[in-house]
This record gives sequence, C-alpha cells and structure tokens, in this order.
Amino acid sequence: MKKDLTISGVSVRELAREYSTPLYVYDEGMMASRMDEFTSNFRSDKFNTHVAYASKAFLCKAMARLVNKKGLCIDVVSGGELYTVLSAGFPAEKIYFHGNNKAPYELEYALKSGVGTIVADNMDEIRDIAAMAEGLDTVANVMLRMNPGISAHTHEYIMTSAPDSKFGMALCDIAEIAEAIKEAEKTGHFKFKGIHSHIGSQIFAKDAYIAQIQTMSNFIHDLESEYSLPVKEISLGGGFAAYYTQKDEPIPVDEVCRTIIAECEKQKDAFALSFDTLSIEPGRSIAGEAGYTVYTVGYGKVSAGKKYVFVDGGMGDNIRPALYGAEYRCDVISEDDNGEASVCTVAGKCCESGDVIINAAEIPNAKKGDLILVYTTGAYGYSMSSNYNRLPRPAVVFVNGAESRVVVKRETWEDVASHDVTE
Ligand code: LLP
Repeated sequence: MKKDLTISGVSVRELAREYSTPLYVYDEGMMASRMDEFTSNFRSDKFNTHVAYASKAFLCKAMARLVNKKGLCIDVVSGGELYTVLSAGFPAEKIYFHGNNKAPYELEYALKSGVGTIVADNMDEIRDIAAMAEGLDTVANVMLRMNPGISAHTHEYIMTSAPDSKFGMALCDIAEIAEAIKEAEKTGHFKFKGIHSHIGSQIFAKDAYIAQIQTMSNFIHDLESEYSLPVKEISLGGGFAAYYTQKDEPIPVDEVCRTIIAECEKQKDAFALSFDTLSIEPGRSIAGEAGYTVYTVGYGKVSAGKKYVFVDGGMGDNIRPALYGAEYRCDVISEDDNGEASVCTVAGKCCESGDVIINAAEIPNAKKGDLILVYTTGAYGYSMSSNYNRLPRPAVVFVNGAESRVVVKRETWEDVASHDVTE
C-alpha cells in the first residue's frame, strides 16, 4: 500500500487536495525532455529534419506553448486544433494541417492564417486548395498524404496490395495524382512540397517503419523520375509506442529515430531522391507517459465473485478501455494498510456497463476515500473525453519541478449546460 506517490516530486495526495478529483496531471518536464530527445536524435547530415508534435494526442494552449518553446513543429487536424494553437501564439509557418475531410471554412482559415503546410488527403482536395488559394491570392504549400498499404498497430504489421483506409491516396493512382499536382501548380498558387504517410499508432515494430520508408521511397522515385515532380519533403507520420503495462516494450526514442534516419539516408542515396527535409509526427510518445489520472474511490462491491472498485470518473475522461480494450496500470494511495493485492475491476460512474478503466487490476483493497493513480493516460484521454451523463470534464494540471498549475479549468455543471437554449 502506498501512503502517497509523487509526480515530478509533487505529492499526489496534495494535488488531489488542492485541485480535487478526477484530475489529469501532466509532468511538463517529462514532456519537455521527450521533445528534446526527439529533436536531438532525429538529425541527419544529409537533410533537414522536423519533429511535429501530433496535437490530437493532447492539446490545450499551455501544451501548444510548450511545443513552441521546445522548437518543434505541430500537426493539427481540424479548425478547432488550428484555432487553439494559433491563439496560443504558435507560428503559423510551423503548422501542418491534416484531415481527410477538411471543410471549406477550415481550408480558408488555414490559408488566411498562413499555415506552413497543408496535407491534402485526396485529389478533389488538391483542386480545391489550388482554387481557394487562387481566390485568396495566396500560395498554398501542400504535401500529399499517401496510403502506403502498410498497417501497423502493435508488434505486427501487414502489407496489403489493395489497402482500405479512409486516409490518403493509393500509390497505384500515381499518374492521376501527378496530373492533379501539375494542374494545380499551373495556377501559380499551389506549391507541391512533398509526400506524407502514416502507418498506425502504438507501433512496437521497427521493421514496420523500414517497410514504410522502402515503399514510400519507391513511390517517390517514380514520381521524380517518371513524372518529373521533385519531392522536397517526406513525412513519415507518428505512431511511436508508449509504455502502458508490463506487456509493452516501446522502442526507445533514440533508437527509433536512428533507425528511421539511417534507412532514409540509405534510400536517398540508393534512389538519388531529392528531398531536403524529413519529418515525423509523434503524439502519444510525447504526451502518453507524462500524463496521469487521479481518481477518488467511492463505493465498491463483489458481483458474481468479481470485485469492483468504483472511481469518481470513468469513460468520460478515458474512453480508451471501452473503445479499444486499452489496458492501463494503477496504484492505490491510502492512509491505511489495506492488505494484500487482489484482482479487481476499476470501474467508473457512467451509466454504461463498458465503463471500465482497468479490467483486472492487481491492487490492495481500495476503500472509500482512497486515491487511485492511473498511469500513462496522457495521450488520447483528455483529447477524447466527453460529457457523457453530463459529467463535467476534469481539470488539467501541469506539474513542473515542485510547482503545479491549472492549464485547463475543471468544467462545472453550469458549463456543461451552458450551450443549452431554452427560449
Ligand atoms: N500523424 C498522423 C497523420 C496521425 O494520423 C496520427 C495519429 C499521428 C501522427 C500521431 O500518432 P501517435 O504518435 O500519437 O501514435 N485515438 C487512438 C489513436 C489514434 C491515432 C490517430 N492518428 C488511441 O487512443 O489509441
């Protein structure tokens, strides 16, 4: 039994007392050093390198400011993410704007704001961007998202000849794609910048990245040699795994960076590729392990021999176990000695049987008023949170050294009802 635990040296008990629970806590220093690890290892003598934080993993203005301070670029996928980073003072030219179905008003917002790179997802979008940029009398810098036909989500990856994905364009459509780029460039308002691909998330297999680089290099070689379209930037997306439970063995950041750089250098030489910039977009591997959720235990029960511990949050603040069967680990913080560890289900307070945070946690008997600290909730927890059952979203606190501060305020019942129209 733990009487207390610390995050960056700050007592979790103190954090719970000061900010109440449920609470998202981020170790800001840890995120900063992860970002440094990426930028210092993702380097080459042969080309420039960009690390763009994938903001969908976790975003608020304080996060955007941290990413900027650390000198990274940022990837956004919606007008809302774009608005958040711009209003946090993030330089527009360092933004990559993704999305498979950007609305005209989102594209217009991006073009008017001077977003550095728009990543077009399909051929109609290429035409629309060119037309819109012409209408606004600006120049759009555009990368194209390709679907490399590689799907990697865990230790395994698969390559398929007829990939089905809602994202990106098929490699076999190269002739049409080249035609669409050339047409768009004729407007003088569309600059083809490069090629993007992304093969999945929570990837443990280095081989998957090698396969991706080889596949994309072949494609880019064809684009350059057969269609005379120079590809100046290559982006390989994100997907680097985080550590959730003992089953996970993420590839260390320096190792995955070195692997990618070495393979890209090799392919650049082998195919005489012209790219001068290589980018990656890590999200989870920056925010995941630095984030924690603190809950207070309420009631508990034994049902059909299964022990339940109920916490004051649940699927509203972390949908991942319900949605993906994601696994987490946790610790109980209690003043008392609650005895030996036993297997129990940590469940939330939502009206939904699937509202479980951990299915089979081996923890000491947690009783009312104890705290439960869940690890590695920093990626896709807050960003996928909801107000199901009209539960207000928890506050987000950044801890740095001995200091802590609220970066997103706790919602109130009034906040949750604030958009309701009664007249
Ligand atoms: N770049 C692109 C184009 C992406 O689509 C993604 C994630 C990333 C970068 C960042 O991937 P990361 O490094 O975070 O793995 N909600 C899911 C994850 C969805 C990821 C979608 N795309 C989850 O909670 O596991």
